[in-house]
Amino acid sequence: MTQVTELGYLTLGVSDIEAWKTFAAQVLGLEVVASDDPAKCFLRMDYWHHRITLVQDPSDDLLVTGLRVAGQDEFRAMADNLEAAGVAVRIGSEAEAEARHVLEVLMIQDPNGYAVELFHGPHMQFDKPFYPGRRMHGPFKTGGGGLGHVMQNQTAGFEKVYAFYRLLGMRGGVEYKLNLPGVPQPVPLMFLHCNERQHTFAFSGPGEKRINHMMFEVENMADVGLAHDLVIRSGLPVIIQPGSHANDQMFSFYFKNPSGFMNEIGWGGRSALAQSEYYHGDAFGHAPVPGTMKGFMVPA
Ligand SMILES: [Fe+2]
Repeated sequence: MTQVTELGYLTLGVSDIEAWKTFAAQVLGLEVVASDDPAKCFLRMDYWHHRITLVQDPSDDLLVTGLRVAGQDEFRAMADNLEAAGVAVRIGSEAEAEARHVLEVLMIQDPNGYAVELFHGPHMQFDKPFYPGRRMHGPFKTGGGGLGHVMQNQTAGFEKVYAFYRLLGMRGGVEYKLNLPGVPQPVPLMFLHCNERQHTFAFSGPGEKRINHMMFEVENMADVGLAHDLVIRSGLPVIIQPGSHANDQMFSFYFKNPSGFMNEIGWGGRSALAQSEYYHGDAFGHAPVPGTMKGFMVPA
């Protein structure tokens, strides 16, 4: 079966691109790369030309998820499979592919109406090693697991969302029936993977934005601690205290970025399992900071 192999890139619409550049470099440790357009810049975290495109945009939200396929054969097979399944596919122009620094790109929408791009052939810059925006103890963990993971809010329903992403070769299911303080019913959360990363996408219920959070993994636990210190020092709100998830067993914490959604920095995640499991809560920690969760996983 033709399948996507990793979350390759994200495009974010941000209302204050200057604030984001400072945040990306000084808090997240990403490398900021200018573009010809002052309303757009790139963020690097490894040898890829970029992993994130920031676009000046009032939405302060996720605009595009970019999922990689292995090569041109898989790209064409995926386009055919999607069209046969009734998904509207638009093959991007050469200029659109060049703007994304990939060989070929196609555009589709998921059942929530969210923009998804499938691509192959990212532009790799092995002559330009990653230069972090601030000191780091070690690298970001990308490689075969892609840039990290993204949790998206959704309204189409888990069944429809799952069926769509199955077409792309992702698999998984509901892993959490999360017990949250003050919420009477467990909150179901769905997780999908396409490589060794335990999950590449997670889906929550409806939310104020398309995105709930994005996660980057670091190879040295000290970088989680350093990021936590820098978040506190910068005055950004911590939303979920350090702890370990039951599913990916990532040691991580969550904080609010300049666009009002969350970033998670994690370390030590385990790989995707061959068999399904579910959980009511995390292994330890991850207590929500009181008064900060409204509009995220807690119904507003
Ligand atoms: Fe996460």
